[in-house]
Amino acid sequence: MPNNKTLPNYAPGLEGVIAGVSAISKVDPAGDELLYYGYKVSQLCERSSFEEVCYLLLNEGRLPDKKDLENFRGKMSSERNVPAEITDYLCKMPKEAHYMDILRSAVSLFAHFDKQTEDNSKAAELAKSIRLLAKVPTVLAARVRVLRGNKPVSPHQSLGHAANFLYMVNGEEPAPDFAKALDVSLICYAEHGFNASTFTARVAASTLTDMHSSIVGAIGALKGPLHGGANEKAMYMLREIGDPAKAEKYIRDKLAKKEKIMGFGHRVYKKKDSRAPIVKKYALKLAEKSGEKKWHEMSDIIERVLMAEKKLFPNVDFPAAVLYYLLGLPIEVDTPLFVVSRISGWCAHVMEQRADNKLIRPDQHYTGPEAREYISIDKR
Ligand code: ACO
Repeated sequence: MPNNKTLPNYAPGLEGVIAGVSAISKVDPAGDELLYYGYKVSQLCERSSFEEVCYLLLNEGRLPDKKDLENFRGKMSSERNVPAEITDYLCKMPKEAHYMDILRSAVSLFAHFDKQTEDNSKAAELAKSIRLLAKVPTVLAARVRVLRGNKPVSPHQSLGHAANFLYMVNGEEPAPDFAKALDVSLICYAEHGFNASTFTARVAASTLTDMHSSIVGAIGALKGPLHGGANEKAMYMLREIGDPAKAEKYIRDKLAKKEKIMGFGHRVYKKKDSRAPIVKKYALKLAEKSGEKKWHEMSDIIERVLMAEKKLFPNVDFPAAVLYYLLGLPIEVDTPLFVVSRISGWCAHVMEQRADNKLIRPDQHYTGPEAREYISIDKR
């Protein structure tokens, strides 16, 4: 058998392969800065809101003016309610059910109630994107409350997206710095080119299936620990370490066993993930306020050891895990919050794929047997 790595036109994991054309985001080689339609994510975090970024992504790179943004916000908040049948059904699922599975099922169920599910026109796709963005947090927050033994709280129509999520989880309006910290993390998670989940969404969209099916597939892909699932794994690790004094030995032992440290490394970034320091800055503000500093003390030690030993840097999942923990959210919702945000990028990619569609159907290198005679069952 040939060495697969040396086959012509083959790159394992499609690494370095250009699998499509997109105008939505890029990593600027000067400084590894992530750009959404040319706008620096660092600037969007400081100066805009998650809703504004959603508008930008869903409207082919156009920043909204005040009126556009007001309308968009209004549409999003008016779509926050979820049919009671769906919330009741999902909240009755076994308490061990993974939150990502709950969200995957939620989007599937939304399709049955959405009158435009089968309509792939641009206007319908935009309307469905807004509905998905608006409704997924409602289901997620309801599930958190029910597992905590509380009744779901209806969405607050006049709060922003991030603040409303915290409101629906806690039943009270969040402090502005809590809402801002969550908002910033959502902006950072919104979009990142042809990552595994987005590519999954595009592959599905290329068959001309519906938007909901594309997003269901993307959620499944994001769940994996090599992708979105890394944030919750990173927080479980920090909790397991528990004490900054134990962090260095813990990490060195893992490296000696050739185990991966979740929340470090990236396929695209080679020197740093520029989103990580942004999210860390807001997580540090929360830590300052609460006095809970040990998570960052441990993080700093782990970052130092991984840089020294493996030249590895934290990706956005590592500080996001700490930020969500400091917001008082259960660790299990870390990856679902990635969904809450990334729906914006996925939907933008589904629409972009449709605009110039070609079925995505790559080739393979076959390594099985050549044609052979069938042997009847009694002769085997
Ligand atoms: N911990 C320890 N070693 C690592 C890590 C890590 N987190 N990441 C990469 N390496 C090592 C690998 O073991 C490998 O070493 P080797 O050449 O000695 O075998 C080398 O670096 C290359 O790693 P690959 O996994 O082959 O690189 P790839 O580009 O495929 O991986 C990935 C990128 C999957 C993100 C990887 O860095 C990883 O598994 N990280 C941990 C999971 C994670 O944090 N995922 C989140 C990604 S970002 C996001 O989805 C928002």
